[in-house]
Formats: sequence, C-alpha cells, structure tokens
Amino acid sequence: MINQEEKLRMLRNEHVPQGPFNTTTAFIKEAVGAIMVGVDGREYIDFAGGIGVNNVGHCHPKVVAAIKNQAEKFIHTCFHVAMYSPYVDLAAKLNELAPGSFPKMTMFANSGAEAVENAIKIVRYVKNRPGIICFENAFHGRTYMAMSLTSKIKPYKLGFGPFAPEVYRMPFAYCYRCPIGLAYPKCDIACADYLEKFFITHVAPEATAAVIAEPIQGEGGFITPPPEYFPKLKKICDKYDLALIIDEVQSGSGRTGKFFAIEHWGIEPDIITLAKSLAGGMPLSAITGRAEMMNQPHVGGLGGTYSGNPVSCNAALAVLEILMEDGLLKRAEELGNTLMERCTSLHEKYEIIGEVRGKGPMIGLELVRDRETKEPAVEETKKIIQRCFEKDLILLSCGSFGNVIRILMPFVITDAQLEKGLAILEETLHEVNS
Ligand SMILES: Cc1ncc(COP(=O)(O)O)c(C=O)c1O
Repeated sequence: MINQEEKLRMLRNEHVPQGPFNTTTAFIKEAVGAIMVGVDGREYIDFAGGIGVNNVGHCHPKVVAAIKNQAEKFIHTCFHVAMYSPYVDLAAKLNELAPGSFPKMTMFANSGAEAVENAIKIVRYVKNRPGIICFENAFHGRTYMAMSLTSKIKPYKLGFGPFAPEVYRMPFAYCYRCPIGLAYPKCDIACADYLEKFFITHVAPEATAAVIAEPIQGEGGFITPPPEYFPKLKKICDKYDLALIIDEVQSGSGRTGKFFAIEHWGIEPDIITLAKSLAGGMPLSAITGRAEMMNQPHVGGLGGTYSGNPVSCNAALAVLEILMEDGLLKRAEELGNTLMERCTSLHEKYEIIGEVRGKGPMIGLELVRDRETKEPAVEETKKIIQRCFEKDLILLSCGSFGNVIRILMPFVITDAQLEKGLAILEETLHEVNS
C-alpha cells in the first residue's frame, strides 16, 4: 500500500520538471510555529524556515489575520492603477527603520531576485554607468541579472548563459578560506582595499555604478565578514562615487537579531534589498534607499503588475509589529546567543566542524574532513542533513562546496523544540564524525 506522500511524489515526478529542486521528500499538510506536519502525519522540526522566510513562524496568528483581513477587502488593484494604504504605510515604516539619517524611499516587488534587478536598474540610471561589482560566493537570485551576479556555477548558472554584461566579481571577506591568502586581523582587511586594485585590473570606477554585497553571504556559506570590512568598503565606494547596495534578502527582517544585518557593521548603505521573511511567507520584496536615488528613474520606469500586492503588504505590516512591538526581535537576539553557545560547544567536541560563524540566529557550521587542510566535508554534510531528516529535523546546507550546515529556524521555536532539534543534530554529528 503506498501512502499519501508516495502518491504525491509520483504525481510530482510525472508532472513537474526536476529543475525546481526539492531538498527533502516531504509533502506538508499544515505548519505552525517551528513545526511542519507531513501529509501522513509525520511532524518535522523546522530549522530551514522555508529558506529563511518564516522568521516569525509558520501561520503566525497576526500574519494570518492580516492576510484574511486584507483578502476580505480586496486582493489586487495593481498599485499603478489604484493605490492603497498597506503599500505606503509599509514603505514609510521601512524608510524609518533602514539605517541612515538621510531621507529614504521604498518601492516593492515580488521576489528577492526582482528586488536585486530593480536595485541595479536604479543605480545604473542614477550613475549613468554600466559596471556592477559583485563578489565570489554571492547569491542574488535566478533571473538573468541576479543570476549573472550570482557566483556559484553548479547548479545556478551551468547551461544558462550567456549572462548579463558589465558584471565584475571580486573576492569576498571569507576569513576561514582567505581568497588572498592572508589571516585576520593581521591582514588589515586587505580584501576591502583590493577594490582599489580591482579598478586597475578589471573595471574603472568611472565605468562602475555600484558594488552589491550580502552582509552575510547566505547561499555562499553564511560567510560573515569581520567588523572592519563594510566600513572600509563603504569608504572606498564613497571615495569613487559608487553606490553600495546591500542585499538583505536572506539576512534581513530580523534574521541576525537586528532588523537589518548591516546594522552590525554600523554603515549606511545607499540601497537595501529585502524579501524572504519580510511578509511572513507571502511573496514580497522591498528596495529601500536614498530618496535622491530612488526617485530619479522616470515615471513608468519601474514597477510590475503584482508588485507590492496589498495582501503581502498587510502581512508585512503584521510581521513588523510582531518583530518590533511584540518583542520577537529581542527573542531572536537571545536565540542567537543560545545557538552560538551551543554550536561553539559542538565545535569543541566534533573535529568535523571547521568553523562556526554568523550573527544572531543566522548561524552556519562549515564542515571539513581535516581541520588543517580544510578539505570540505561535502558527502558528510549531505549525510548529516539526510540523517537529520530521517529523524524529523529539517536542515539545509549551503556554501560554494555545499559543506555548510545553515540554521534558519523560526524565532518562535519553543525551548523544547530547540533542544530536541539540537539533540538530533548533535547525535547525527557524532555518528558521522566517528
Ligand atoms: C541574498 C539573496 N538575494 C537574493 C535572493 C533571491 O531571492 P528569491 O529567491 O526570492 O528570488 C536570495 C535567495 O536565496 C538571497 O539569499
């Protein structure tokens, strides 16, 4: 007798192509908080949060109410045809929250990739220069410009070229595997100074509109630059009149214990992109930036039919209330401290963990076969994730080598669920490490 999940899996394999990947075989019938329930009743602890989308938890009652409330009034007018308050209220709130004492403006789109596309359109328009500098290990999405800015070839780029022109890629502050062979802090953050060399060997600043960076590289392996990195990078951008776009699609909306991850580095980016957890699971992305830049593209130059959908905007207003007024951002910070403590003790116990890094509850464990050679433990990472899934813990990997375990659980996870999840992870690390 095949069960419901197997039936659905067969249907999926027959009717849906393999390209839209699945990291597990689970089919979900309902989810609440940090728990997802499979169609046959299996309960999973969710340490993946729909790839960083469920920071406030599955089906948070306030998000559900905001969705219902708006859907009962109207679902779509198209902001370009007839405007509505959730769009402008949310824009005003994000402008207030984003770092920088200068005036800001926000527009909305549907996905992270679309936010990146719009940010690039805006900076090119404003600077009237084509070049965009991005980074090794970056991930910015799957549309053509966003994919061109993305670093990892397999699976994101292989076979999909040609890519967008005028994209230049330089090394990032990946201290564990320093791309220029130095060691922090003796290096004096030479990887940021590298930008000035890059202007000689790759692209002139006079031909460059912007630098785009993730504060913590997400898909790239939760790579977390040292405190001095972004202040230095921003200074060089300012010196050459380049815009700095900070892509907070994965790291934003409270993921690092602050609403914007870049707040940890104390800089004021020109433009920030947000998506994922912004609307608690509803499709929505935001582009927030200096008003003088955001407002330059001509009327009709930016937009989209669904962009800033009222149901999504209302859900996002609820997410902001939960994080900022109900104390969930504070809880995220505490959760981050607990996780860092627990993961650091796992690092001490298990040789396979080469490095623990991240900020707040955005934590990655880079797994290596040997702490000296740092050979990526690729197969072991796959095995750990698969074994955890068999024990009902859903985890994701990331990293250019696929050897980083990333933790993206909802902040509403209960202490008991957290303990259970960490116990499964530790037991599995023990099995694979020995
Ligand atoms: C930093 C970053 N930018 C952009 C994207 C693309 O977002 P989306 O999948 O919503 O297009 C992602 C997705 O993982 C991301 O992590």
